[in-house]
Amino acid sequence: MNYGFQTALIHLGEKPFFDNPEGDVVKSIHLTSTYQLESLEPTGLFYQRYNNQTRETLEKKLAYIEKANYCLVFSSGMAAITSCLFSLLNPSNKVLAFDDLYSVTKKIFNHFLPKYNIKVDYVDFTQNIDNIDFTEYCLVWLESPTNPLMKTVNVNQLIKKIKSKNPEIIIVFDNTFLTPYFYNPLADQVDIVVHSLTKYLNGHSDSIGGAVMLNNPSLYEKIKQYRDSFGNQLSPFDSYLILRGLKTLSIRMEKHQQNAIKVVEFLKTQDFVQEVFFPKIENLSPNVKGLGGTFSFTVNLDQEDIYRFISSLKLISHAVSLGGVESLICVPYYSTHKGIENIPNNLIRLSVGIEEVEDIIEDLKQAFLNTSKKNISKSIT
Ligand SMILES: Cc1ncc(COP(=O)(O)O)c(C=O)c1O
Repeated sequence: MNYGFQTALIHLGEKPFFDNPEGDVVKSIHLTSTYQLESLEPTGLFYQRYNNQTRETLEKKLAYIEKANYCLVFSSGMAAITSCLFSLLNPSNKVLAFDDLYSVTKKIFNHFLPKYNIKVDYVDFTQNIDNIDFTEYCLVWLESPTNPLMKTVNVNQLIKKIKSKNPEIIIVFDNTFLTPYFYNPLADQVDIVVHSLTKYLNGHSDSIGGAVMLNNPSLYEKIKQYRDSFGNQLSPFDSYLILRGLKTLSIRMEKHQQNAIKVVEFLKTQDFVQEVFFPKIENLSPNVKGLGGTFSFTVNLDQEDIYRFISSLKLISHAVSLGGVESLICVPYYSTHKGIENIPNNLIRLSVGIEEVEDIIEDLKQAFLNTSKKNISKSIT
């Protein structure tokens, strides 16, 4: 049956008539580590590293909303990312990656892939790419918007261009920021979509997980065999938490975005704010339907005053991560992106939660005021 996005979020794999023989309205947490075998060479449920009913319900639901044939869930976003890389790449392969990416993905590219003689080149995909020889590369790694500089590309146009030069190339897209609610990258010829489930998909900052979604059966088999052997799949309990969080994804994403737009407007009026990096939807693929609630901005404050501003916040938590119902703020240069080139030390990343937006703005206002009061007293003394 072809159900709408929000109906699938709530019911797929859970309500009795959706392939759920136990009759539970909500999928339960299956904890068994092993299963009674039905023959000497079993074909069905076998051992929790390979099969688990709660995990597979989550996979079914995620595949449906990402419009993918297959989904595999992992113990973290990084487990999903590394499993793709290490199952698909071979020594002497070359990877081309966006120059702004989540820092730990870059860490894998810079420190771990070279151990296997796999080289990664970086490019700013917002610039002209006509001179790149794509036949040299077997895999391209994309985020859009990127974390944390919020660089954006029209993935639809970009991939057409890349595949016209090398049809065999595998395109991987990290869709953590937009989520399947706002964007389904497989429709733009992306081959593999990865997610940190930790962020918007779970949405409640109480679980860590990752997912890989794709249509190609042979790539799926390679990644699955890797996961089944390395044992980095999602636990039944985390699968349950993420299934629960997912049910409100549409409503949360709309509210995150509404709040973020108002907070951006407010920040643009503030003297301490230099530039706000909030993506423009017209720069993205025409298939992108919204932007979510995370963005960055630079401030004309020194390190001490940035800390004063951040630590004056009462409602917004100074914490890394993003995509939870609560607003979170961090300074990537010192935390998430420590040691990564070209990240300004006055860049602040804000994940706008779904609290009342007036309260979020009030909190920012009083923290700016507290910072400016200190600056006035500094100039008097
Ligand atoms: C865009 C992006 N991808 C992947 C990850 C890694 O996810 P996890 O922390 O679940 O391993 C993050 C974490 O912040 C992220 O922001």
